Amino acid sequence: MRFVFLGLPGAGKGTQARVLSERLGIPQVSTGDILREHVQEGTSLGIEARTYMDRGEYVPDALVVRMVEERLREPDASKGFILDGFPRTVPQALVLARALDAAETPLDAVVKFTISDAIAIRRITGRSTCPACKRTYHAVWSPPLAPGVCDFDGVALEKRSDEDELTVKRRLALYRQQTEPLETFYAERGLMHEVDAEAPAATVSERMLSSLVDVI
Ligand code: AP5
Repeated sequence: MRFVFLGLPGAGKGTQARVLSERLGIPQVSTGDILREHVQEGTSLGIEARTYMDRGEYVPDALVVRMVEERLREPDASKGFILDGFPRTVPQALVLARALDAAETPLDAVVKFTISDAIAIRRITGRSTCPACKRTYHAVWSPPLAPGVCDFDGVALEKRSDEDELTVKRRLALYRQQTEPLETFYAERGLMHEVDAEAPAATVSERMLSSLVDVI
């Protein structure tokens, strides 16, 4: 099974991709997480990507496409995958479509998680992330049991460098300009499933699973 998750920054793509990944036993492929690993390790890709990510801009298509192609060649992706944060531009979507068509492994569904800008800003500015397992928490809606520490592995939680309000607003504008056109792209291919994501995370998971009932 192969899925693409769309939605504004903070829509809950990562949160819901983890749920579907556990349910179906297929990997969540988050381009944001992979890029942040490169930044942390100081690779040449990470050094270049960081300048874009810190400003809330997109990393150039060629760099991201190469990175995703490599990730999808790994053995765990042969059963399927959930693309969380990719594609983000029409050129990225065209490359993905060509690669999947050539392998005769088309997408099964594209899920778009819908929230307002105001909720997106509150979710992101309140988020903290475990650098080890990538689980996210929210200061108000899903706080960790012990302040500042991941419930699962005890590692200190971190804030990302692109979570201040000004950068979030830039990311929202960029989504509208560069990523929203993908909704039409995938609707024309009959793949779009829209999920109202302005509800507690467990309710959004139920909505996602029922919208995919004919697919999974
Ligand atoms: P990326 O890491 O992909 O960021 P994003 O798409 O902007 O999405 P987020 O991770 O911010 O949000 P999310 O929708 O996953 O929400 P989450 O589940 O965490 O990308 C970062 C950067 O990398 C980009 O800006 C770009 O520079 C670069 N990049 C990545 N991919 C690229 C590409 N393909 N091309 C070019 N550049 C690329 O939830 C958010 C918060 O809300 C959490 O605290 C969570 O606990 C909480 N929450 C979640 N659901 C709920 C709920 N239902 N109710 C209450 N709280 C909730």
